[in-house]
Amino acid sequence: MIGKTIQLVFSLFFFFIVITIISLRGMAMAQSTTSTTKVKVKVGVVLDMNNWVGEMGLKGINMALTDFYLSHAHYKTRLDLRVKDSKDNVVGAAAAALELLNNTEQVKAIIGPLTSMQANFLIHLGEEAHVPIISFSATSPSLSYLRSPYFFRATLNDSSQVQPITAIIQAFDWKEVVLIYTENEYGEGLIPFLTDTFQENKIRVLYKSTIRPVASDEEIVAELYKLMTMQTRVFIVHMTHSLSTRLFTKANDIGMMSEGYVWIITDGITNSLNFFDPSIITNSMQGVIGVKPHVPKSKELEDFTSRWKNKSHQEKTSSDLNVFGLWAYDATTALAMAVEKVGALNFSISNIAKNSTTDFESVGVSQNGIDLRQALSSAPRFRGLSGDFSFVDGQIQSSAFEIVNVIGNVPKRIGFWTPKQGIVRELKFDAVNNIDSPN
Ligand SMILES: *[C@@H]1O[C@H](CO)[C@@H](O)[C@H](O)[C@H]1NC(C)=O
Ligand SMILES: *[C@@H]1O[C@H](CO)[C@@H](O)[C@H](O)[C@H]1NC(C)=O
Ligand SMILES: *[C@@H]1O[C@H](CO)[C@@H](O)[C@H](O)[C@H]1NC(C)=O
Ligand SMILES: *[C@@H]1O[C@H](CO)[C@@H](O)[C@H](O)[C@H]1NC(C)=O
Ligand SMILES: *[C@@H]1O[C@H](CO)[C@@H](O)[C@H](O)[C@H]1NC(C)=O
Repeated sequence: MIGKTIQLVFSLFFFFIVITIISLRGMAMAQSTTSTTKVKVKVGVVLDMNNWVGEMGLKGINMALTDFYLSHAHYKTRLDLRVKDSKDNVVGAAAAALELLNNTEQVKAIIGPLTSMQANFLIHLGEEAHVPIISFSATSPSLSYLRSPYFFRATLNDSSQVQPITAIIQAFDWKEVVLIYTENEYGEGLIPFLTDTFQENKIRVLYKSTIRPVASDEEIVAELYKLMTMQTRVFIVHMTHSLSTRLFTKANDIGMMSEGYVWIITDGITNSLNFFDPSIITNSMQGVIGVKPHVPKSKELEDFTSRWKNKSHQEKTSSDLNVFGLWAYDATTALAMAVEKVGALNFSISNIAKNSTTDFESVGVSQNGIDLRQALSSAPRFRGLSGDFSFVDGQIQSSAFEIVNVIGNVPKRIGFWTPKQGIVRELKFDAVNNIDSPN
């Protein structure tokens, strides 16, 4: 009896000790998570909110942050987003950036802007203020010539597709082409690269047809009639997708989408074919050939895509997702990593005002700018949703392109182009991104 009681007392005692240890540990853990308060690092976002790419990008940015800090809960820094609408124009983007950089906000980096036209000014501003400008959608190669160490392009520049387009033209032995493009920085940026490469490969550019971004249907039709008289029927179209839907509708109306005509579209259009009004695809774009960057399949991407659809459904927003959304996601991950690397302490220093009495007096110089820029430039490659991701000379690197052909109601993949192999029907390693490695 006594033995039993002692045993009972002992087990109660141990029970008590175990409980105490557990609760002490719980307290310690709770303390360690609360005592390490996170350092919030202000990051601006400048996007056109009425534009579907802007909406998609912002959703990608937000999902990246949620995912990233869920799997890196111990990190000491947290990106604190300040979102501004650039209102679809250059001045709007400039005004948004100036507000974000002024003495009140002092953001340490800016994600955006959306277009190459807007990027031009922001790149200069970022360089003045030592604030990295990270765009996932400004693709004009002309931006590279600004040579700002603070500009990071988390998207391929348009000239990456010059080789695959040339390869297609050579494969069919076409000798003469006509270029049709928008009369703005986006449209014009690619043209010198195309013409140079065509010249090297003995492909003649018979005519360069420019279309104003705000061209009326009548202007488009008039231009198309002019093109009809050309001695070549191979057309390369480089413009935004909304302008291109009107171009193709009109071209179809006047019989230029029939047999004998060849239409090649650049990746800006090809990337968004999935969101075109299906009737435009089936009625007006049959036979069109397009190129777009290849995104390798992965478990993460599959998982992300289904979460994206779910989220869009719940929030009743558009579920359109293309590679620009993936680049927005990966760029945000890269920035979160770089900010953590520069360290929690370093971001407490505020920007110092410049002495200059010129232009932008309320814009200071970010004291962490150089460190953050270096952290972004030297960050190791990581496996992003869009494939292997890293900045080399401020740009992400291209690898494979897909070649698609519009047949029926969807674009069908008809082959690939890789820098080493040229045009191939299938990639050997679709799931992994090592198509460039010798094998
Ligand atoms: C900075 O911009 C904010 C708006 O974002 C404005 O309220 C504030 O007055 C500006 N400060 C300066 C110093 O320009
Ligand atoms: C989608 O959302 C629903 C409701 O929140 C949830 O039950 C489901 O698991 C989600 N699916 C995915 C793939 O996230
Ligand atoms: C951050 O600041 C600390 C203390 O000033 C410094 O020792 C460290 O080198 C800085 N880190 C970076 C990445 O600049
Ligand atoms: C501003 O001017 C003062 C005196 O003219 C000088 O000491 C200081 O270094 C200058 N600061 C900057 C950031 O140029
Ligand atoms: C465009 O990107 C490619 C890599 O994808 C790079 O080799 C090339 O130098 C870039 N061109 C410009 C003008 O930025």
